[in-house]
Amino acid sequence: QTSDDSPDEATLAILKPDLLANPFTVASILDEIHSHNITISRRKQVHWTWAQAGEFYSEHRERFFYQRLLGYMTSGPILALELRAPQVIARWRQLIGSTHPARMRINNPTCLRAKWGLTDTRNSFHGSDSSESAAREIAFVFSSLKT
Ligand code: PPS
Repeated sequence: QTSDDSPDEATLAILKPDLLANPFTVASILDEIHSHNITISRRKQVHWTWAQAGEFYSEHRERFFYQRLLGYMTSGPILALELRAPQVIARWRQLIGSTHPARMRINNPTCLRAKWGLTDTRNSFHGSDSSESAAREIAFVFSSLKT
């Protein structure tokens, strides 16, 4: 099945706090998303509390980076985007590149983390890693009870 005839799916993308500090950066990234024929079907700017970030990332609570991940994600507003397109879960993760921006600048210099990411912690983007995560994360962000 090609990406043209497969049905749309949805994923959760997050533009993290360092990106939100510059509106021109955000505009340029939104343009890039549209240029890949990906629809932004919902968007929400939120400033998470520690508890909200902790719940969103609860699967990582035993990892060494959990506190610094939460510190980063609560340091300012984030922009959450519901993206829709065929195979968008995998496509968005491919567009952002993997977790480590410095490695991406060598291995995948056109990906978004290579272009905008700062460090392993301040890596600027999130993308759901499966359809189950996407459904959970979209509900978490866009449910009125959570914000
Ligand atoms: S794993 O092992 O595949 O689950 O890990 P990974 O997908 O690389 O990372 C899970 C989330 O934790 C973030 N992360 C970090 N945050 C802060 N500091 C360090 N060192 C660090 N390493 C990984 C990573 O960006 C993932 O969050 P999201 O928001 O999905 O990018």
